[in-house]
Amino acid sequence: MSMADRDGVIWLDGEMVPWRDAKTHVLTHTLHYGLGCFEGVRAYHTENGPAIFRLKEHTDRLFRSAHILNMKMPFTKEELNEAQCAAVRENNLDEAYLRPMVFLGSEGMGLRADNLKVHAMVAAWSWPSYMSPEAKELGIKVRTSSYTRHHVNITMCKAKANGNYINSMLALNEAISGGAEEALLLDNEGYVAEGSGENIFIVRDGVLHTPELTSCLEGITRATILDFARDMGLEVRERRITRD
Ligand SMILES: Cc1ncc(COP(=O)(O)O)c(C=O)c1O
Repeated sequence: MSMADRDGVIWLDGEMVPWRDAKTHVLTHTLHYGLGCFEGVRAYHTENGPAIFRLKEHTDRLFRSAHILNMKMPFTKEELNEAQCAAVRENNLDEAYLRPMVFLGSEGMGLRADNLKVHAMVAAWSWPSYMSPEAKELGIKVRTSSYTRHHVNITMCKAKANGNYINSMLALNEAISGGAEEALLLDNEGYVAEGSGENIFIVRDGVLHTPELTSCLEGITRATILDFARDMGLEVRERRITRD
Protein backbone atom coordinates (compact mmCIF):
# COMPACT_ATOMS: atom_id res chain seq x y z
CA MET A 1 0.00 0.00 0.00
CA SER A 2 1.36 3.39 -0.99
CA MET A 3 2.22 5.70 1.90
CA ALA A 4 0.16 8.37 0.15
CA ASP A 5 -2.95 6.25 -0.26
CA ARG A 6 -4.22 5.45 3.21
CA ASP A 7 -7.14 6.23 5.43
CA GLY A 8 -6.61 8.48 8.42
CA VAL A 9 -5.43 12.00 9.10
CA ILE A 10 -2.11 13.85 9.05
CA TRP A 11 -1.33 16.96 11.07
CA LEU A 12 -0.11 19.61 8.64
CA ASP A 13 0.68 23.18 9.65
CA GLY A 14 -1.63 23.22 12.61
CA GLU A 15 -4.60 21.22 11.40
CA MET A 16 -5.61 17.65 10.77
CA VAL A 17 -6.14 16.95 7.08
CA PRO A 18 -7.34 13.75 5.41
CA TRP A 19 -4.34 11.46 4.77
CA ARG A 20 -4.64 11.60 0.97
CA ASP A 21 -4.86 15.41 0.98
CA ALA A 22 -1.65 16.00 2.95
CA LYS A 23 0.22 17.15 -0.16
CA THR A 24 2.90 19.63 -1.04
CA HIS A 25 3.94 21.18 -4.36
CA VAL A 26 6.70 19.65 -6.53
CA LEU A 27 8.66 22.90 -6.14
CA THR A 28 8.83 22.45 -2.37
CA HIS A 29 12.29 23.69 -1.46
CA THR A 30 13.25 20.80 0.85
CA LEU A 31 12.44 18.32 -1.91
CA HIS A 32 15.12 19.94 -4.07
CA TYR A 33 17.94 20.70 -1.65
CA GLY A 34 17.27 18.48 1.36
CA LEU A 35 17.31 21.19 4.01
CA GLY A 36 14.73 20.04 6.49
CA CYS A 37 14.65 18.01 9.68
CA PHE A 38 12.58 15.23 11.10
CA GLU A 39 12.13 12.73 13.89
CA GLY A 40 11.34 9.05 14.12
CA VAL A 41 9.26 8.45 17.24
CA ARG A 42 7.49 5.38 18.55
CA ALA A 43 4.34 4.86 20.53
CA TYR A 44 4.03 1.53 22.31
CA HIS A 45 1.00 -0.39 23.50
CA THR A 46 0.47 -0.22 27.26
CA GLU A 47 -2.43 -1.22 29.49
CA ASN A 48 -3.31 2.45 29.75
CA GLY A 49 -3.31 3.03 26.00
CA PRO A 50 -0.47 3.95 23.63
CA ALA A 51 2.53 5.64 25.25
CA ILE A 52 4.91 7.76 23.18
CA PHE A 53 8.52 6.93 24.00
CA ARG A 54 10.47 10.03 25.08
CA LEU A 55 8.17 12.45 23.31
CA LYS A 56 9.71 15.49 24.98
CA GLU A 57 13.26 14.43 24.06
CA HIS A 58 12.29 13.86 20.42
CA THR A 59 10.56 17.21 20.20
CA ASP A 60 13.54 18.89 21.85
CA ARG A 61 15.85 17.32 19.26
CA LEU A 62 13.55 18.40 16.43
CA PHE A 63 13.74 21.97 17.68
CA ARG A 64 17.52 21.74 18.10
CA SER A 65 17.80 20.40 14.54
CA ALA A 66 15.69 23.28 13.22
CA HIS A 67 17.78 25.76 15.18
CA ILE A 68 21.04 24.26 13.86
CA LEU A 69 19.67 24.47 10.31
CA ASN A 70 18.49 28.03 10.88
CA MET A 71 14.83 27.18 10.36
CA LYS A 72 12.49 29.26 12.46
CA MET A 73 9.92 26.93 13.98
CA PRO A 74 6.39 28.14 13.37
CA PHE A 75 5.00 26.19 16.33
CA THR A 76 5.87 25.75 19.98
CA LYS A 77 7.16 22.52 21.48
CA GLU A 78 3.85 22.12 23.29
CA GLU A 79 1.96 22.39 20.00
CA LEU A 80 4.22 19.80 18.37
CA ASN A 81 3.82 17.47 21.35
CA GLU A 82 0.06 17.82 21.20
CA ALA A 83 0.13 17.27 17.41
CA GLN A 84 1.97 13.97 17.94
CA CYS A 85 -0.49 12.79 20.59
CA ALA A 86 -3.38 13.79 18.33
CA ALA A 87 -1.88 11.95 15.34
CA VAL A 88 -1.84 8.71 17.37
CA ARG A 89 -5.24 9.33 18.91
CA GLU A 90 -7.11 10.43 15.80
CA ASN A 91 -5.76 7.54 13.73
CA ASN A 92 -6.93 5.12 16.45
CA LEU A 93 -3.49 3.60 16.82
CA ASP A 94 -2.58 1.30 19.67
CA GLU A 95 1.10 1.34 18.72
CA ALA A 96 2.64 3.58 16.10
CA TYR A 97 5.60 5.05 14.32
CA LEU A 98 5.44 8.83 14.24
CA ARG A 99 7.13 11.03 11.70
CA PRO A 100 7.25 14.72 12.52
CA MET A 101 9.03 16.75 9.85
CA VAL A 102 9.87 20.40 9.37
CA PHE A 103 10.44 21.57 5.82
CA LEU A 104 10.79 24.64 3.64
CA GLY A 105 7.92 25.47 1.30
CA SER A 106 7.56 26.40 -2.35
CA GLU A 107 7.56 30.17 -1.83
CA GLY A 108 10.90 30.48 -3.62
CA MET A 109 13.54 28.47 -5.46
CA GLY A 110 17.32 28.37 -5.47
CA LEU A 111 19.87 28.40 -2.68
CA ARG A 112 19.38 32.12 -2.16
CA ALA A 113 15.62 32.00 -1.65
CA ASP A 114 14.92 34.15 1.39
CA ASN A 115 11.14 34.08 1.54
CA LEU A 116 10.66 30.45 2.45
CA LYS A 117 7.98 29.47 4.88
CA VAL A 118 8.78 26.79 7.45
CA HIS A 119 6.13 24.07 7.46
CA ALA A 120 5.58 21.25 9.92
CA MET A 121 3.79 17.93 9.68
CA VAL A 122 3.21 14.85 11.81
CA ALA A 123 2.08 11.50 10.44
CA ALA A 124 1.52 8.35 12.51
CA TRP A 125 0.91 4.82 11.32
CA SER A 126 1.42 1.25 12.36
CA TRP A 127 4.96 0.07 11.52
CA PRO A 128 5.62 -2.80 13.87
CA SER A 129 9.27 -3.56 13.21
CA TYR A 130 12.12 -1.63 11.56
CA MET A 131 13.89 -4.83 10.55
CA SER A 132 12.44 -8.32 10.22
CA PRO A 133 10.88 -9.55 13.51
CA GLU A 134 13.37 -12.47 13.59
CA ALA A 135 16.31 -10.04 13.58
CA LYS A 136 15.83 -9.39 17.30
CA GLU A 137 16.29 -13.08 18.08
CA LEU A 138 18.83 -14.10 15.48
CA GLY A 139 20.90 -10.96 15.09
CA ILE A 140 21.79 -9.41 11.74
CA LYS A 141 24.63 -9.43 9.29
CA VAL A 142 26.37 -6.05 9.24
CA ARG A 143 28.84 -4.94 6.65
CA THR A 144 31.41 -2.17 7.03
CA SER A 145 30.49 0.45 4.49
CA SER A 146 32.66 1.87 1.76
CA TYR A 147 30.88 5.17 2.51
CA THR A 148 32.30 7.37 5.24
CA ARG A 149 29.95 8.85 7.84
CA HIS A 150 29.47 12.59 7.74
CA HIS A 151 32.25 14.69 9.12
CA VAL A 152 31.31 17.40 11.63
CA ASN A 153 32.51 20.06 9.24
CA ILE A 154 30.73 18.76 6.15
CA THR A 155 27.25 18.80 7.58
CA MET A 156 25.66 19.37 10.94
CA CYS A 157 25.84 15.93 12.53
CA LYS A 158 23.76 16.87 15.56
CA ALA A 159 20.82 17.79 13.33
CA LYS A 160 18.56 14.99 12.17
CA ALA A 161 18.51 16.62 8.77
CA ASN A 162 16.74 15.21 5.72
CA GLY A 163 19.77 15.62 3.46
CA ASN A 164 22.05 13.73 5.86
CA TYR A 165 20.16 10.58 4.97
CA ILE A 166 21.56 10.35 1.45
CA ASN A 167 24.68 9.01 3.15
CA SER A 168 22.60 6.49 5.13
CA MET A 169 20.70 5.30 2.08
CA LEU A 170 23.81 4.84 -0.03
CA ALA A 171 25.44 2.82 2.75
CA LEU A 172 22.35 0.73 3.44
CA ASN A 173 21.69 -0.01 -0.23
CA GLU A 174 25.29 -1.09 -0.63
CA ALA A 175 25.07 -3.36 2.43
CA ILE A 176 21.81 -4.95 1.31
CA SER A 177 23.00 -5.51 -2.24
CA GLY A 178 26.05 -7.23 -0.75
CA GLY A 179 23.87 -9.65 1.22
CA ALA A 180 23.99 -7.92 4.62
CA GLU A 181 21.13 -6.34 6.56
CA GLU A 182 22.81 -3.21 7.83
CA ALA A 183 25.82 -1.01 7.17
CA LEU A 184 28.44 -0.04 9.71
CA LEU A 185 29.70 3.43 8.89
CA LEU A 186 33.14 4.58 9.94
CA ASP A 187 34.06 8.22 10.41
CA ASN A 188 36.57 10.03 8.23
CA GLU A 189 39.43 8.84 10.44
CA GLY A 190 38.30 5.22 10.24
CA TYR A 191 36.68 4.92 13.66
CA VAL A 192 33.26 3.33 14.12
CA ALA A 193 30.48 5.93 13.93
CA GLU A 194 27.08 4.22 13.70
CA GLY A 195 24.70 2.24 11.52
CA SER A 196 22.65 3.79 8.73
CA GLY A 197 19.82 4.43 11.17
CA GLU A 198 20.99 3.55 14.67
CA ASN A 199 23.78 4.02 17.18
CA ILE A 200 26.05 1.14 18.03
CA PHE A 201 27.17 -0.44 21.30
CA ILE A 202 29.57 -3.17 22.34
CA VAL A 203 29.37 -5.09 25.58
CA ARG A 204 32.76 -6.48 26.47
CA ASP A 205 33.83 -7.92 29.81
CA GLY A 206 30.87 -6.27 31.51
CA VAL A 207 31.67 -2.80 30.15
CA LEU A 208 29.40 -0.96 27.72
CA HIS A 209 31.24 0.86 24.95
CA THR A 210 29.80 3.27 22.40
CA PRO A 211 31.35 5.83 20.06
CA GLU A 212 31.56 9.37 21.41
CA LEU A 213 29.23 11.97 19.93
CA THR A 214 31.09 13.38 16.99
CA SER A 215 29.78 12.23 13.64
CA CYS A 216 27.03 9.93 14.94
CA LEU A 217 23.54 11.15 15.72
CA GLU A 218 22.82 12.06 19.33
CA GLY A 219 20.39 9.17 19.62
CA ILE A 220 17.60 9.18 22.16
CA THR A 221 17.78 5.39 22.44
CA ARG A 222 21.52 5.81 22.99
CA ALA A 223 20.92 8.23 25.87
CA THR A 224 18.29 5.87 27.32
CA ILE A 225 20.61 2.86 27.14
CA LEU A 226 23.39 4.86 28.83
CA ASP A 227 20.94 5.86 31.59
CA PHE A 228 19.86 2.24 32.09
CA ALA A 229 23.46 1.04 32.15
CA ARG A 230 24.45 3.61 34.76
CA ASP A 231 21.35 2.74 36.83
CA MET A 232 22.45 -0.90 36.67
CA GLY A 233 25.90 0.05 37.87
CA LEU A 234 27.42 -0.98 34.55
CA GLU A 235 30.56 0.86 33.52
CA VAL A 236 30.02 2.95 30.38
CA ARG A 237 32.78 4.15 28.09
CA GLU A 238 32.10 6.66 25.32
CA ARG A 239 35.19 6.41 23.22
CA ARG A 240 36.71 5.87 19.83
CA ILE A 241 36.15 2.31 18.62
CA THR A 242 38.06 0.62 15.82
CA ARG A 243 36.39 -1.78 13.44
CA ASP A 244 38.36 -4.74 14.74
C1 LIG B 1 21.68 7.86 11.68
C2 LIG B 1 20.97 7.53 12.94
N1 LIG B 1 21.68 7.29 14.04
C3 LIG B 1 21.08 6.97 15.20
C4 LIG B 1 19.71 6.90 15.29
C5 LIG B 1 19.08 6.53 16.60
O1 LIG B 1 18.40 7.63 17.10
P1 LIG B 1 17.22 7.47 18.13
O2 LIG B 1 17.68 6.54 19.17
O3 LIG B 1 17.01 8.85 18.64
O4 LIG B 1 16.06 6.96 17.38
C6 LIG B 1 18.93 7.16 14.18
C7 LIG B 1 17.49 7.08 14.29
O5 LIG B 1 16.72 7.43 13.48
C8 LIG B 1 19.57 7.48 12.97
O6 LIG B 1 18.86 7.73 11.87
